[in-house]
Amino acid sequence: MTDEPSPTEAALDAAAPELFTWEFATNPYPAYAWLREHAPVHRTRLPSGVEAWLVTRYADARQALADARLSKNPAHHDEPEHAKGKTGIPGERKAELMTHLLNIDPPDHTRLRRLVSKAFTPRRVAEFAPRVQELADGLIDRFAERGSADLIHEFAFPLPIYAICDLLGVPREDQDDFRDWAGMMIRHGGGPRGGVARSVKKMRGYLAELIHRKRAALPEHPAPGEDLISGLIRASDHGEHLTENEAAAMAFILLFAGFETTVNLIGNGTYALLTHPEQRTRLQKAIEANESGLLETAVEELLRYDGPVELATWRFATQPLTIGGQSIDTGDPVLVVLAAADRDPARFPDPDTLDLARRDNQHLGYGHGIHYCLGAPLARLEGQTALATLLTRLPDLELAVDPVELRWRGGLIMRGLRTLPVEFTPLERSE
Ligand code: HEM
Repeated sequence: MTDEPSPTEAALDAAAPELFTWEFATNPYPAYAWLREHAPVHRTRLPSGVEAWLVTRYADARQALADARLSKNPAHHDEPEHAKGKTGIPGERKAELMTHLLNIDPPDHTRLRRLVSKAFTPRRVAEFAPRVQELADGLIDRFAERGSADLIHEFAFPLPIYAICDLLGVPREDQDDFRDWAGMMIRHGGGPRGGVARSVKKMRGYLAELIHRKRAALPEHPAPGEDLISGLIRASDHGEHLTENEAAAMAFILLFAGFETTVNLIGNGTYALLTHPEQRTRLQKAIEANESGLLETAVEELLRYDGPVELATWRFATQPLTIGGQSIDTGDPVLVVLAAADRDPARFPDPDTLDLARRDNQHLGYGHGIHYCLGAPLARLEGQTALATLLTRLPDLELAVDPVELRWRGGLIMRGLRTLPVEFTPLERSE
């Protein structure tokens, strides 16, 4: 886009709220409301220096997420020299690590997604429910007697990493390594970048070796409770299998896509409940009465109200197209703002109100179209188990600090808290 802005566009640009500031990270919703109303498809300069289109209205967002002219393949974007390496757009250098579902288009995407779906089935996830419950209880046991905790570091962070490691079939004795590597990845914003790259490399190296070992030892027929990596190796479609490299990339994306998202579902969700006491009491009563219906709608509403994925991942125009009346040029990056779309009053009545019983709630928190979250059943299981266990075991749980003291991570794609200090009546040790 090289056209000069019209006078109206220039006036709007001048009035546009400042994005990507500290205040914005704390509460981006007023800025998104402004964009939705005044500049629903808005070209902005990201902190990395790259210019991208932000799509904020629900109808446009849903259309863009399903638009085949928007590619996930970063090769369609010509990254400007000044922004190289800073954008978070997966570059050539990382091609081997980053060739996975979220960076590819059909027909490769269709083939890989079909194969992984054969191993990562809702049934496999449902069978995993007792283990998630055991993990949630075990983590709470570690701080229950203290009467206080940082729920991000002691609960929301370890739960998904141990869960996905177990599901994949990473031996228990190696899982703390994953915890450390994942910890480095989640500290991305403030942590040393070299450390993140090293952690990713170690994780990938470990997974490649594990897959190699498991393939060599794979029994001829699947056994009950077979782990997901064995399932990935075994999965076949019309005689086609995943190569070891593809299986390693797949295991990595399951970890990568399923980890920080779930940390933030538990973190943002607990925070929303603690700051909406009436809703929280209602949910607590429903859980006590064993009414699972409200727990299910509650987790969906928490995803809509303050979900973990603020912006969907990068998309690039493969040809000139129009979104919400705005022309987009070939190669332009498009970022669909899920957090803005999910508060669009044209789709959700009282969008800024948290209503755990909300029914007509087709939110975009898990995306839409062919890249719709593959791990949604696992995320729901983890979210529901984590929140129900917290509210049941620590019924008088409350924030230990004023909400204004809480700090949000400033990343582009994810939305989540750095820490969540809480207090509660200490539990006595049960022998
Ligand atoms: C609350 C937790 C989660 C949220 C909010 C979430 C959200 C999303 C979203 C928004 C997308 C689409 C991104 C886009 O189109 O740009 C996505 C894709 C994906 N998610 Fe999740 N996710 C969660 C948990 C998980 C878990 C637990 C796993 C697996 C263990 C997982 C695996 C994936 C994969 C593999 C994709 C890519 C699918 C594809 O490209 O076909 N996610 N997720």
